[in-house]
Amino acid sequence: MNELLQHYAAALDSLAGQGLLRRLPATDQRGLLDFSGNDYMGLAKRPELVDAALAAGRAFGAGSTGSRLLSGNTPLHEAFEARIAADKGTQAALIFASGYQTNAACIAALLDKTVLGTQPLVFADKLNHASMHLGCTLAGAKQLRYRHLDLAHLQALLEQHAEEPRPRIILTESVFGMDGDQADIAALQHLARLHSALLYVDEAHATGVFGPRGYGLCEAVELDEGTVVMGTMSKALGVSGGYVACARTVRDYLVNKAGGFIFSTAPSPLVVGAGLKAWELLPGLDADRKALLARAERLRQSLRGLGLDPGASTTHIVPVLLGTPQQTLAAKDALAAKGILVSAVRPPTVPQGTSRLRLGLSAAHTDCDMDRLLAALGSR
Ligand SMILES: Cc1ncc(COP(=O)(O)O)c(C=O)c1O
Repeated sequence: MNELLQHYAAALDSLAGQGLLRRLPATDQRGLLDFSGNDYMGLAKRPELVDAALAAGRAFGAGSTGSRLLSGNTPLHEAFEARIAADKGTQAALIFASGYQTNAACIAALLDKTVLGTQPLVFADKLNHASMHLGCTLAGAKQLRYRHLDLAHLQALLEQHAEEPRPRIILTESVFGMDGDQADIAALQHLARLHSALLYVDEAHATGVFGPRGYGLCEAVELDEGTVVMGTMSKALGVSGGYVACARTVRDYLVNKAGGFIFSTAPSPLVVGAGLKAWELLPGLDADRKALLARAERLRQSLRGLGLDPGASTTHIVPVLLGTPQQTLAAKDALAAKGILVSAVRPPTVPQGTSRLRLGLSAAHTDCDMDRLLAALGSR
């Protein structure tokens, strides 16, 4: 075996020994009750989205044929961005092919020390998504990581570095994807303002589920002009892609400096058409949002009644904290044997000792589905 392959094989053996080996699940999961997905509003299979995708494909093609700066810019891409900006209350927006790409490309560009003249100070919640870390790594920026949701710790770090003449940025998710808890966006904006920092918020898991019209936790907060709000189309919107809603200067800057935008083919018109349709449907889904969050609250109470720990979740994402990877895999397998699909989340996705089942609730679930889930969890 080639020497490199031997190293790869040894790495796989080591992961397997720790219960951390990842495998692709079966390809046909139809018939299983699915709590492992992120289709929070049950939009992914809605006929309106499929029809919108087909209409967009007929008008603009199945593929966009090039990057936005070359042949891939269609009126549909720009219409979606205009709509996002209007609904997010920002001057502009920019869409990308994935959320991961959005964070990696935008954060790397925003932290570019050759533009800023010096390495910026980056204050980041400890549990931020891997794609936000990647953006920092690409920029060569060291993160000052504050304890998860601990704004007193963030404030202390900001004060500790108050005298340094370097630009500052605060990076956070709004709803945290693995814990289902929420950041206090108004308080973060206040701290950012006080310390002249730029606030960057990832609304991947809040888009569609929170906000008066479903446009995220930031929707109800008075944000500064410089604040950058990122989100994805891959979760509650039921398709794929990412966006940033931001000042026009930031959009123009990203069009020139974000590698993941410049050097990547524009999102397919099929996806953009479906994403725009989903975005338009969100304000009409308020009753579904309320029902989803009420169901999540009942689930947490029932889990506690079973002696299980849903952590600090206050949203439609409910972890069941188990501790070790092995316990978590065994629980996932026990549920799978009963026809129920859940995610077993282990390090490095979550910190050591906090392996968990992750239950993603959807407006498409029924009360009967919830009863089945609880019965299965109770009889593991
Ligand atoms: C908080 C957060 N940001 C970004 C992403 C990446 O989004 P996408 O799946 O659209 O690439 C995810 C994906 O799980 C996420 O949880």
